[in-house]
Amino acid sequence: MGLEAARIIEFRRIANPAGNLTPIEGSTDVPFDIARVYYLYDVPGGEVRGGHAHRHIQQVIIAASGSFDVVLDDGIKRARFMLNRSYYGLYVPTMVWRELENFSSGSVCLVLASDHYLEEDYIRDIHDFRKEVRPQ
Ligand code: TYD
Repeated sequence: MGLEAARIIEFRRIANPAGNLTPIEGSTDVPFDIARVYYLYDVPGGEVRGGHAHRHIQQVIIAASGSFDVVLDDGIKRARFMLNRSYYGLYVPTMVWRELENFSSGSVCLVLASDHYLEEDYIRDIHDFRKEVRPQ
């Protein structure tokens, strides 16, 4: 797939003076059935998270609160996405390296994933990733 499949998804917003609401339904608002949700919070300033790719798992990354950057790399191209709205999600396809950085204080990174946690789905070494994504 690669970076060209990565994209920002703008979710619906149900605006209300008493507070806004964004619903996300699997296979409708995101291009996969949601099997798992996790969130990152209390990230100390300057920390970098991620640093891996997934062989089969697709994800959507959302700045549910605050802001952070996601840097994607498909072995050829790199792109930086700045997430700072609760109604935007970044679709990350399979076999794309991701790093999350520049977390604002108090930010919450919500991740929707297409499968359960499977350690064997991770590629955690950038050299292994480059070999696997672009075999010579
Ligand atoms: P990891 O995916 O390496 O974190 P990040 O990419 O955000 O820096 O996960 C950190 C730890 O949490 C690792 O020991 C695996 C565990 N973990 C789970 O048990 N379940 C999950 O769904 C996730 C995402 C991580």
